[in-house]
Amino acid sequence: MSLKRILVTGGAGFLGSHLCDRLVGQGHDVICIDNFFTSQKGNVEHLLDHRNFELIRHDVTHPLWLEVDEIYNLACPAAPGHYQYNPIKTMKTSVMGAINVLGMAKRCRAKVLQASTSEIYGDPDVHPQPETYRGNVNPIGPRACYDEGKRAAETLFFDYHRSNRVNIRVVRIFNTYGPRMHPYDGRVVSNFIRQALHGNKVTMFGDGTQSRSFCYVDDMVEGLVSMMNGPDDFPGPVNIGNPNEFTIMQLARLVLELTGRPNLPLEHLPLPPDDPRQRQPDIRLARERLNWEPKVQLREGLERTIAYFRSIRFDDFRAPTPNY
Ligand SMILES: NC(=O)c1ccc[n+]([C@@H]2O[C@H](COP(=O)([O-])OP(=O)(O)OC[C@H]3O[C@@H](n4cnc5c(N)ncnc54)[C@H](O)[C@@H]3O)[C@@H](O)[C@H]2O)c1
Repeated sequence: MSLKRILVTGGAGFLGSHLCDRLVGQGHDVICIDNFFTSQKGNVEHLLDHRNFELIRHDVTHPLWLEVDEIYNLACPAAPGHYQYNPIKTMKTSVMGAINVLGMAKRCRAKVLQASTSEIYGDPDVHPQPETYRGNVNPIGPRACYDEGKRAAETLFFDYHRSNRVNIRVVRIFNTYGPRMHPYDGRVVSNFIRQALHGNKVTMFGDGTQSRSFCYVDDMVEGLVSMMNGPDDFPGPVNIGNPNEFTIMQLARLVLELTGRPNLPLEHLPLPPDDPRQRQPDIRLARERLNWEPKVQLREGLERTIAYFRSIRFDDFRAPTPNY
C-alpha cells in the first residue's frame, strides 16, 4: 500500500478521531483540522506524539492551503442539538466547507470524500431507502439547516466532478454510535447510556415505536475507507449503515439491561418536529460495489460503548450547546 498525505476535516470528532486512528495506524501522513465546536482534543490526544499526525485548529468555512492526496470532509455538527444551535453557521459549514475542500482537491488533484447523511432523505416515504430515492425534506423546518446543507454539499461535489473532473466520493452515513460520542450530544444512544449510568430515569421522545438502525463506528470507518479506496468510476452516493432495525423502545430496554438498571423508569416527551418515523439503509450498492457490510451487532457495540462511557468523567465534558 502506498503511503499518502491525508486531510481529515472534523478529525477530532467522534467519527473523525476513529478515522484518524485507522489512517495513522496504516502509516499515512494525517492532518486533522477541527474547530472543536462539538469535540475535545482528548479524542486525538493519544495521536499527538505520532510523527505522522498533525493537528490544526481551523474552521472549514475559511480556505486552507495544504498539499494532500486525499481529503475526508467530516467537519459539521451532526447531532440535532448541535446543528440547530446556530443553524446559519451549520449551513455555512456544509456549503462553504464543501467549496473549500473541493477547491483544494481541484488544485492538488486530491481525491475527496464527503460525509453526507441519511438526513438528506428527510422523513422518507420509501422504506428502506435506496440511493435513488430523492428524499422528503422540509426545506424550511428546524432540521433544514443540516439536511439542506448536506444536500447542497452533495450538489457541489457532483458539479465539481462533472465540471472540473474532481475525483469525488459521496457516502450517506446512517446513525452511527460508539466510544467517543459526546456524552451530551443529545443523540439517542449517548442519552440513554448517560442517563442509565446516572441512574435516574431515561427520557424517550414519543412512545418509542419509531425505529432506527444503528451502525457501530468500526464498521463505519471501514465503509468510509473502502469507499475512498474503491473504484474511480464509483463516486457514489452510497449508503453506509447497519440495516438491522430496532424500535427506540427496544434500544432503551437493551441499554437498561446492559447497564444493569432494568427497572429504571422511562419518561416520555413529545416527538420533535420533522422527526422521521423510520430510518433504514438499503446497502445493496455498498455490498455489490465495495464488498462492504457491517459486522458488529447492536448488543456487542453497545457493550463497548457503555464500557467507554463508564471510563470517562462526565464532569470533564462541557455540553457544547444548551440544547441537549
Ligand atoms: N455520527 C452519525 O451518526 C452521523 C450520521 C450521518 C452523518 N454524519 C456526518 O459525519 C461527520 C462526523 O460526525 P460525528 O458524528 O463524528 O460528529 P462530531 O460532532 O463528533 O464531529 C464533527 C466534528 O466537526 C467539527 N466541526 C464542526 N464545525 C466545524 C467547522 N466549521 N470547522 C471545523 N471543524 C468543525 C466538530 O468540532 C467535530 O469535531 C459529520 O459531517 C456528520 O454530518 C454522522
